[in-house]
Amino acid sequence: MKKIPVWIDTDCGVDDAMALLLAFRLPELEIVGLSAVAGNVTLENTFRNTRDIAALAGRKDIPVYKGADRPWIVEPRRAEYVHGADGLGGAEIAHSDAPEAEGHAWDALYQCAKKYPGELQVVAVGPLTDVANAVIKYPDLPQYVKGIHIMGGVAAGPGNTNMTAEFNIMGDPHAAACVFKSGIPVTMAGLDVTLKAHLNKEEVEAIASTDNKVCKLISQATRNTLALYKQLGLGEIMCMHDSCPILNLAHPEFFSGKEAGVHVETTGVETLGKTVCDLYSDGKHGVKNTTVLLDCDREAIVKLVSEIYTTYEA
Ligand code: RIB
Ligand code: CA
Repeated sequence: MKKIPVWIDTDCGVDDAMALLLAFRLPELEIVGLSAVAGNVTLENTFRNTRDIAALAGRKDIPVYKGADRPWIVEPRRAEYVHGADGLGGAEIAHSDAPEAEGHAWDALYQCAKKYPGELQVVAVGPLTDVANAVIKYPDLPQYVKGIHIMGGVAAGPGNTNMTAEFNIMGDPHAAACVFKSGIPVTMAGLDVTLKAHLNKEEVEAIASTDNKVCKLISQATRNTLALYKQLGLGEIMCMHDSCPILNLAHPEFFSGKEAGVHVETTGVETLGKTVCDLYSDGKHGVKNTTVLLDCDREAIVKLVSEIYTTYEA
C-alpha cells in the first residue's frame, strides 16, 4: 500500500495532540512534516507541544517548523480555558531534545510539496495563517499540493466562539478565506461532524487505564476538557475535533459529506469567521470548492483510536 504523504500544521492543544498521536500510527499515512501555528495557546507553547508529542511517539525524526505567531489582521484569540496555559491541560510530558528545524513553516511546507508533486496532503487543525502564507508566497503551490484537509468551520450549526464562527476559522478569517479561494481542493471537518466524533467518559477512562506514556498523557490532558463539556451541557465527552481530517484521509469510509461552495465571511459584524456553505444549490453560487464532512461512524472511530492509543509502547 502506497502511503499518503501528509504535512500537519497544528496549534497543538489537547485534541491536536490526540490527533498527532493517531497520525503517527496510521499505516496509511506518512507524516513528512509538522508545523506549529499560534492558536489555542501562544506559538511558544504550540511549537514546544508539537515537538514534545512527536518525541513521545518516538518520531523526533520528523522536523517541526515554527509558523505564525499571530493572525493576519484580527486580534489573536486563545483557548486556554479549554487547553490550559501550556496547551496540554497541564499534563506531564518530557521535552524533546531534537534539534529545532530552521526556517518558516510556509517555506518548509512549499519545499516539502515540491518533493511530493501532486501527492502531498496538507492537514491544518488550527488557524490557517501558515497555509495561507504559503498560498500567497508561492502562486504555484496548487500544482504540488493534492488537497488541504482542515478541522474548521461549521456548515449548518452554531459556532463555538459565538453563534456563527468556529475557533480555527475565527482565529484568522482572512487567511481562511484565502485558503478556500486558493484553488486547492479543501476537505472541511467542521463542528457538524467533529462534535459527533467524540469519546465518552467511559471510553476515555478505558484508554486512561492503560499503562503506557501516551495513555497517561491523554488521561491527564483531557481532565479539564471533560469537565468543561459537562459544564457546557454537552456531557462528559472529549471531542476528537482534530482527529477527524486525519482519520478521514486514512479511513474515508468512516465519514460522509457533501460537495459545496464554501466562502468565509471577513467583514461581518455578527458573522465574521462564518463558513458560508452552499450545501443545497447546484453550484450556481460559485464553484464547489470543498467537501464538507457532515457525519461519521462514531463506533468505528472509537474502536480504532482506542486500539492505537492503547498499543503504544509502555
Ligand atoms: O474548534 C475546535 C478547534 O479549535 C480545534 O482545532 C481545537 O484544537 C481548537 O484549535
Ligand atoms: Ca487545533
